[in-house]
Amino acid sequence: MAKIGIFDSGLGGLTVLSAALRQTPHHDYIYLADSANAPYGEKSPEWLESRSHLLCTWLAEQGCDAIVVACNTATTGAIASIRKAFPDIPVIGVEPGIKPAAMTTQTKVVGVLATQNTLASDKFKALLGTLPADCQFIQQAGLGLVPLIEDGALSSPEIKKLLKEYITPMLESGADTLVLGCTHYPFLIPCISELFGNQLKIVDTSDAIVRQIQRFIPDENPEDEMQQITLRKQHQIYLYSTKDGDQLLTHAHNLINLRDINIAIQGLTISL
Ligand code: DGL
Repeated sequence: MAKIGIFDSGLGGLTVLSAALRQTPHHDYIYLADSANAPYGEKSPEWLESRSHLLCTWLAEQGCDAIVVACNTATTGAIASIRKAFPDIPVIGVEPGIKPAAMTTQTKVVGVLATQNTLASDKFKALLGTLPADCQFIQQAGLGLVPLIEDGALSSPEIKKLLKEYITPMLESGADTLVLGCTHYPFLIPCISELFGNQLKIVDTSDAIVRQIQRFIPDENPEDEMQQITLRKQHQIYLYSTKDGDQLLTHAHNLINLRDINIAIQGLTISL
């Protein structure tokens, strides 16, 4: 059993925590939501880098065996320097799933919804450069979405208005696939489906991140997984928020289904 640290600008990384809890349930998790500073999407690169370092330093001090940067914006802006600063800890990042989208699109038109910083980053541009030239990527910054998601307004009129504004032009250009390049956005999948039906195949990368966790921190005894889950003590999940730990705990219960998982979960507020 290992202790895995996960951080994001706020609630978005809970989509990654949720996938991790289902697929690698043997570990303890520390989730750090920097909600006091969300959104990260329009912060300066210098601020993002120094903030990401501070959060990773704190997670390393808590004894984490691996750190998951569950934020596309922080990954594209800071992962190289984080890895340099923490050479002894596996640091796993997340990036928009444009590669799987390029492999599965039929129309060769893919919509990409991500933060302004992610779309502007050299890392994202380099990733785009590796993909077939016959595939068109319609890039759209999801301005305004993250603060509404942080408030729990997952299908409010404001969210619907923004989603229509951002996604309709993609459909009009022939997109059949939508990449959600921000870990907050999978919480909008029900609203996107309500608005657009199944016109778009949605690509989110939570499962790919969990495969990375498994690669770096292999399961101790995968063939005996079920027995291990029943025998071992409850796993511990600590949810830390730089804004409001109780609110984070409430959001976690509302946003991810924790009912059938044997966990001891706490919400704590931290000032960093
Ligand atoms: N959830 C983050 C991401 O994946 C950050 C969004 C934000 O804070 O703007 O990019």
